[in-house]
Amino acid sequence: MPHTDLADERLAGLRQRLQGLAYGGDYNPEQWPADTWREDIHLMREAGVNLVTVGVFSWGLLEPRPGVFDFGWLDEVMDLLAEGGVRVDLATPTAAPPSWLAHEHPETLPVDAEGRKIAFGARVHFCPSSPVYRYHAARITERLAERYAGHPALAMWHVGNEYVGFGCHCPVSVAHFRRWLADRYGTVDALNDAWGTAFWGQRYDSFDHIGTPAARNRLVSGPNPGQLLDFARFSDTASLECFIAERDIIRRHTPDLPVTTNFMGSFKHLDYWRWAAAEDVVSLDIYAKPYDPEGQLLAAYNFDLMRSLRGGKPWLMLESATGNNLTGGRNSARPAGQLRVRSLQAVARGADSVMFFQWRASRAGAERFHSAMVPHGGTRTRTWREAVALGHDVARLADLVGGSCDPTDVAMLWDWENWWALEAPDHPSSDLKFTTGILDHYRPLWHANIPVDFAHPHADLSRYRLVIVPNLYLVDDAAADNITAYVRGGGHLLMSYFSGIVDQHDRVRPGGHPGAFRDLLGIDIDELNPLQIGEAYELHHAGHTGTATDWQDIILLNGAEPLATYTDGEQKGQPAATRHRFGTGTATYLGTSPDPETMHRLVLDCATGAGVTPVMDTPDGVEAVHRRAADGTDHLFLLNHTPEEAIVDLDPALSWSVDLLNGHAAVADRLRLPPFGAVVLRHKTH
Ligand code: GLA
Repeated sequence: MPHTDLADERLAGLRQRLQGLAYGGDYNPEQWPADTWREDIHLMREAGVNLVTVGVFSWGLLEPRPGVFDFGWLDEVMDLLAEGGVRVDLATPTAAPPSWLAHEHPETLPVDAEGRKIAFGARVHFCPSSPVYRYHAARITERLAERYAGHPALAMWHVGNEYVGFGCHCPVSVAHFRRWLADRYGTVDALNDAWGTAFWGQRYDSFDHIGTPAARNRLVSGPNPGQLLDFARFSDTASLECFIAERDIIRRHTPDLPVTTNFMGSFKHLDYWRWAAAEDVVSLDIYAKPYDPEGQLLAAYNFDLMRSLRGGKPWLMLESATGNNLTGGRNSARPAGQLRVRSLQAVARGADSVMFFQWRASRAGAERFHSAMVPHGGTRTRTWREAVALGHDVARLADLVGGSCDPTDVAMLWDWENWWALEAPDHPSSDLKFTTGILDHYRPLWHANIPVDFAHPHADLSRYRLVIVPNLYLVDDAAADNITAYVRGGGHLLMSYFSGIVDQHDRVRPGGHPGAFRDLLGIDIDELNPLQIGEAYELHHAGHTGTATDWQDIILLNGAEPLATYTDGEQKGQPAATRHRFGTGTATYLGTSPDPETMHRLVLDCATGAGVTPVMDTPDGVEAVHRRAADGTDHLFLLNHTPEEAIVDLDPALSWSVDLLNGHAAVADRLRLPPFGAVVLRHKTH
């Protein structure tokens, strides 16, 4: 049976056990006396909690001395949770190796690019390549898996915690990197060619002479780009190997239970396309700041990314914050009522869970001021009351579990390798940021209620009406051919500047920019031209005048038509954006970074031209998203992210019935959403 079918079966089993969406959070009972555990379970029942993540950082307590195990407290907690009807997402505690491992095997501590050993004292202090770390991680994983396989509370597995892809520079990692390079290239000459070591006489005579890339302050000038990129790939792989080793141990003991590890959304150092393929379900930790005016937009794009990683299947929001999330600076409280709408937003965008870090606020430790479902003030607090009410809302949405979001018409390409290469040093501009480019294109779509998938550049794009490609600097031939074939076959493309520049080894494509896409776009770029800070030019697009900053490609038309034109400066009269008919599709190119209003117009112009329609019109700050129940019934989420009342007009032709959250059987054509209000309308089947 193919891998994905098995994953689907494991998830079906989880749904069966939970009987609805998952609601709960990280539960760290080892911080509390046993009496508190009983109170916890009582309160969990009150709040409708049905899943908790247990044991994430418990290694030092479960194995207090090497090979000496103490599962007593965890046995008791697991039994109490089972009795209370709360299921467990059991963690392998391997993100926090015990002090004895660091003390007896200091070689397991990672080393940074400047040669400094990371100290014990926080967490994630392990070298992912270390065989000693891997041996001990495998041993505790095996003991946990054999002990709790078959336990009635156990519902799924959570491997490690937030792998970070630490690029370790210790001797063990250097040796591992050399082996990885030898496997990848076969011969050192192939590596020399890929890394362009003929420049500055960097030629290697043997894989044994190669090191991990040194920190910039240990080099007299810029590092080798191929070496940097391969080290990023290698570091991702080294961490993924740790995940897979633990996953495989778990699978031997509990082949029917899903295995996941919690992702950090738009996180740079791990290629989550690869990670998602290695697990049964994608899960996310999201900490969009409550007071960030774009918090809900940032959350939405992370949710869309998670949904996209496994082709639109439901995913799990394993951690979020009931209130502040302690990210440094001033961590304001969440405004009253916002918790509900922000949580439901995840469900609207495909999550099968609403979960938090953490259940009960810690009294001690680094995160003692992080918010929790049970705050320091206990059940007398607003947060507790909101958490209980939210539990009831989540229960009302039980029909949605396992259901999907509708396929989207728009895809945005997302490639981690491009991210690594784009933000590497020694480029025409050091200010290009991968997620800025993504968000600049995502923002107009979010405000217009146009749903977006993210897709890998190798993915089948044929079902999308519009494909958006922000700053795809690094592109291999397969991806370039894929994008070109998409347009040739009738697709609509919006590509922005500094795309198609280098191959998969970060070597400039021959023949001038944008090397991979000159024919497709019908342009040549005479000069790549980052603008100085404060330098701005006027541009004209479809009767609108806007401003261009940051970048200004000097574009020569070679088949394309101008779409937007500069109206001042040296480039006056020259194209800022172009459009090219290619095959039976169109390729639009944006050679600058326009102001938000102009960007909005350009992106929506492309969407409209491609025949993309929004879910519906809503007042700004009100999000409209469709999600289906498992039986296919359509649901419309209307989410008011603003602290003001909002009025939404529904299309009377679409008959909605039953507001699942608020219990109204008949739905008026004009809805009043209170501040931070939410409704979930079910489509009338008959
Ligand atoms: C992450 C971790 C948690 C906790 C939260 C706090 O998501 O996985 O253990 O530290 O952050 O924000």
